[in-house]
Amino acid sequence: MQLTGNTIFITGSTSGIGRAMAEAFHKLGNQVIISGRRKPLLDEVTMANPGMAAIELDISDPESIEEAAERLVTDFPKLNVLVNNAGIMPFDDPSAPLNDEIAQRIVTTNFLGPVRMSSALIEHLKRQPRATILYNSSVLAYVPLAGNAVYSASKAAIHSYAMSQRFMLRDTPVRVQEIAPPWVNTDLIYKGNDPRAMDLEDFIQETMRKLSGDDEEIIVDAILEVRANPGANEHAMVNAFNADMIENPIPVTA
Ligand SMILES: NC(=O)c1ccc[n+]([C@@H]2O[C@H](COP(=O)([O-])OP(=O)(O)OC[C@H]3O[C@@H](n4cnc5c(N)ncnc54)[C@H](OP(=O)(O)O)[C@@H]3O)[C@@H](O)[C@H]2O)c1
Repeated sequence: MQLTGNTIFITGSTSGIGRAMAEAFHKLGNQVIISGRRKPLLDEVTMANPGMAAIELDISDPESIEEAAERLVTDFPKLNVLVNNAGIMPFDDPSAPLNDEIAQRIVTTNFLGPVRMSSALIEHLKRQPRATILYNSSVLAYVPLAGNAVYSASKAAIHSYAMSQRFMLRDTPVRVQEIAPPWVNTDLIYKGNDPRAMDLEDFIQETMRKLSGDDEEIIVDAILEVRANPGANEHAMVNAFNADMIENPIPVTA
């Protein structure tokens, strides 16, 4: 996508990757609108970045999505980029009975949320001279983490949805791109500066550089091999990865 001259709405931009992308696009002179549920953080980010705007949004709530979309189209008629970034990553255990409340929350936030947000803005985006919908999936869409099975499946689902949407929009001005981050040092589970997690600033720099092309998927070099794994022999890497994660689990407390 073109990295300048845009009006960009980013879901889940009160922290982590969303906030860092918002600030990177803001520095490039784009009109950026951030969003999330935590109003004090929305205020903090907009105060730190004069000219940035904010909208409160709960991506798990269809009414909140509709309200946000109406406000966006009214207040920012040149809106041409939607970054579907908001997400949550609770643990689950597919070898035990499902916690249905948690499973529904993951699917509603990580899958239905971006699908509904795209739907609410799609007709507006099609009327723009150039537009982009950018999905934030995960490397776990390609190699699932067994202790986050519903999360991994929600990310595989959004990858699949993006492919279908890209095809259906092929003759419109709307491009569909996907970033699939590796483990990045954010608050998603626990920001513990684990050496296996990529530094947020390094991730944003490489991602922004690669995003400036028209690649459908933006994958940092460190995980190109993991992205290439799916196929008939995919279990070797999936099993080795999960065995290693049992030996060396993600720390959840200091
Ligand atoms: N960090 C990683 O290792 C990693 C790897 C691959 C993919 N990702 C993906 O990157 C995205 C951003 O995660 P992050 O790592 O930057 O974690 P983060 O710092 O926890 O950010 C998550 C963001 O999502 C927002 N969010 C969560 N639930 C929401 C809801 N119901 N409505 C609206 N906003 C909501 C949060 O805002 P509020 O709490 O203010 O609502 C926050 O801004 C997620 O989709 C995640 O799956 C992260």
